[in-house]
Amino acid sequence: MSTPIKHYLQFTDLSAEECAYVFERASLIKRKFKAYEKHHSLSDRTLAMIFEKASTRTRVSFEAGMYQLGGSVVHLTTGDSQLGRAEPIEDSAKVISRMVDLVMIRTYEQTKIERFAAHSRVPVINGLTNEFHPCQILADIFTFIEHRGSIAGKTVAWVGDGNNMANTWLQAAAMLGFHLRVSTPSGYEVNEKTAAAPSDMGQGSYKTYSNPLQACEGADLVTTDVWTSMGFEAENEARRAAFADWCVDSRLMAVAKPDALFMHCLPAHRGEEVSAEVIDGPQSVVWDEAENRMHVQKALMEYLLLGRQA
Ligand code: CP
Ligand code: NVA
Repeated sequence: MSTPIKHYLQFTDLSAEECAYVFERASLIKRKFKAYEKHHSLSDRTLAMIFEKASTRTRVSFEAGMYQLGGSVVHLTTGDSQLGRAEPIEDSAKVISRMVDLVMIRTYEQTKIERFAAHSRVPVINGLTNEFHPCQILADIFTFIEHRGSIAGKTVAWVGDGNNMANTWLQAAAMLGFHLRVSTPSGYEVNEKTAAAPSDMGQGSYKTYSNPLQACEGADLVTTDVWTSMGFEAENEARRAAFADWCVDSRLMAVAKPDALFMHCLPAHRGEEVSAEVIDGPQSVVWDEAENRMHVQKALMEYLLLGRQA
């Protein structure tokens, strides 16, 4: 009997133990990268990257990462493939997955990536959907661990939109046992059903706040994201007005722990969801966060294809 294909469509697709392994492996892979040591665990393997939305970090981190693992990539967009011309997603999945070893998709609805995965012969990775951004949260937690050690028992404050990032933080809090506090303007709350919020938060917890200052009190990490995610541009003006008080500035950072970190998945809009003094200040680890996308995704791709390495 063949082993079932392991996809990474949401954060909960890896167990806490598997996450710990991926972090450990990402550390090793990062160390070797910094030392210019070859790590060709995926030589002759091919990754297809399908983008239905724009990207800088996801594209560069997956593409550079795959080459560094000794493999190669195929880059597809809606505009330059049959994906944008109504070929059924199931047919695209069957065809693409006969020619490559791994597929990364950035798209709109989570159901699209799920349909693709259901018809794929190879592992599929979520490179962002309207609902989730699991590779980003893997990188964020890896970054937290690098700076502060285990995230279990720590407090993370999410300030802003109840979006794909917030949903994924919620899944991570339950799985890895940390406390998530979320403050959003009214009407932009995390939809717990969409977030697939676990009914059992384990050692973790989840609490909502109407006041962002209260959410940040005593936090170990303060994090935010754009007010308007890709695909929601028509709501831009309404969101600007609604989110005006949800800017992570020095006032909010002042009530968090003195050594609290600041994270943002980027791209950022200084003066909107974060002030320049915070994102460019000493508590911000946003550049480590961006770089770590590549290291954790290399570890993730290796794990999905090869399993645990000795
Ligand atoms: N954080 C992130 O996913 O960035 P990109 O949209 O540039 O890929
Ligand atoms: N929430 C943002 C993240 C961008 C990386 C979006 O979906 O556009």
